[in-house]
Amino acid sequence: MCAKISGFSKKSKNEKIEWLATHYLEEHPDAISILKQYWNTNEGLQQLHDDFIENTLTNYYLPFGIAPNFLINDTLYAIPMVIEESSVVAAASNAAKFWLQRGGFNAEVISTVKNGQIHMNYYGNADELQHFFQKVKPQLLDSVLELQRNMKKRGGGVLDIELIDSTEALEGYYQLHCTFETLDAMGANFINSCLEQFAQTFEAEADRHGAFQEETSFPKVVMSILSNYVPECTVKASVSCPVSELGQGDIEGDEFAEDFVRAVQIAKTETRRAVTHNKGIMNGIDAVIVATGNDFRAVEAGVHAYASRNGHYESLTTASVKDGVFNFSIEVPLALGTVGGLTSLHPMVKVALQILQNPSAKELMKIVAVAGLAQNFAALRSLVTTGIQKGHMKMHLMNILNQMDASTEEKEKAEKHFQDAVISHSAVTDFIANLRAD
Ligand code: MEV
Repeated sequence: MCAKISGFSKKSKNEKIEWLATHYLEEHPDAISILKQYWNTNEGLQQLHDDFIENTLTNYYLPFGIAPNFLINDTLYAIPMVIEESSVVAAASNAAKFWLQRGGFNAEVISTVKNGQIHMNYYGNADELQHFFQKVKPQLLDSVLELQRNMKKRGGGVLDIELIDSTEALEGYYQLHCTFETLDAMGANFINSCLEQFAQTFEAEADRHGAFQEETSFPKVVMSILSNYVPECTVKASVSCPVSELGQGDIEGDEFAEDFVRAVQIAKTETRRAVTHNKGIMNGIDAVIVATGNDFRAVEAGVHAYASRNGHYESLTTASVKDGVFNFSIEVPLALGTVGGLTSLHPMVKVALQILQNPSAKELMKIVAVAGLAQNFAALRSLVTTGIQKGHMKMHLMNILNQMDASTEEKEKAEKHFQDAVISHSAVTDFIANLRAD
């Protein structure tokens, strides 16, 4: 029977599972052995994973795959991807191979500035607040000298602090908008620590500021936090080739290019299509982000806000044909790290970064943007030619066979049969049922 509990986090892993089994899994006796089946026999490794979060019960596997043949700025990469969706790695590999024969991908980091805000209430005289801010700004910067010592040594740190009057949008709302360069670190802890220190110093100085004493109003900090919207931390990736090199089977290059460009224009115009179009891009982006231990929720939130920066939600990619040349590109905000956080803790993340030749954060930004562009290319190529289901169902065949507990022999026969036949759940079920009936 479902139940409440206090002090759950203090229980041992076995006690937690027992409690769960008693109250939530009574009708699923197998669930306990399934949970424990995923425990790693290497106790140190298991402990490392247990310690990532509170109340860890077990591990949750996702496939870790590789998409080879990515030529980016004349360097070859095999890109690690962690994702459950059957066709994503295959699609990335196909796109990589396609562009390998056409000069590869170009990528450039446009900027790397991250930001955070101290959000505050102030109902007094705006000029007085501005005057106070100018006076206190050097003290704010001094107050984080120790916090940013290491970051500064490496060439990063706090870039600037600005007072922004947002009272037109919300009565009494001001921000200290702070910008940062965090180099190879994603920088969330660094940024948040600086912001909280700024806020503390700001309020302490406000307490001593004569003009605020005379007024009834003091500036009051509501909260201090980094922003996951990073439109000043962006990367561009692109491919191009003569239209004549785009022929697909029976389809001529110019016809393919025309349909492809039209598909992107539709995703620039129609939100319903843009969301799915960008979802396909995120298939590639998230898979690399997860493999390299970065924060996919932060990237997702920031990317979708960026897709709306022109007032409506639109495609992150752009395609055109000019003078017989096909151009296809993506521009995305990506706040990534290759040091700190999970990157120095998770053994698989370390391997993923080694596969990528231990990239800097800027190099990783380029690789991730390329993965997104490649994924979008693969999706649109299928959509405007064969349709998506042919390739997708080919990759999904093994999942259907696994759902049916197909034997190795049954799988081999099914793979052979469905090389030429249309794959659907019912067609595969019928095929296996027939085999079993023989
Ligand atoms: C499926 O995960 C992604 C696609 O829907 C993307 C798209 O439609 O562009 C195939």
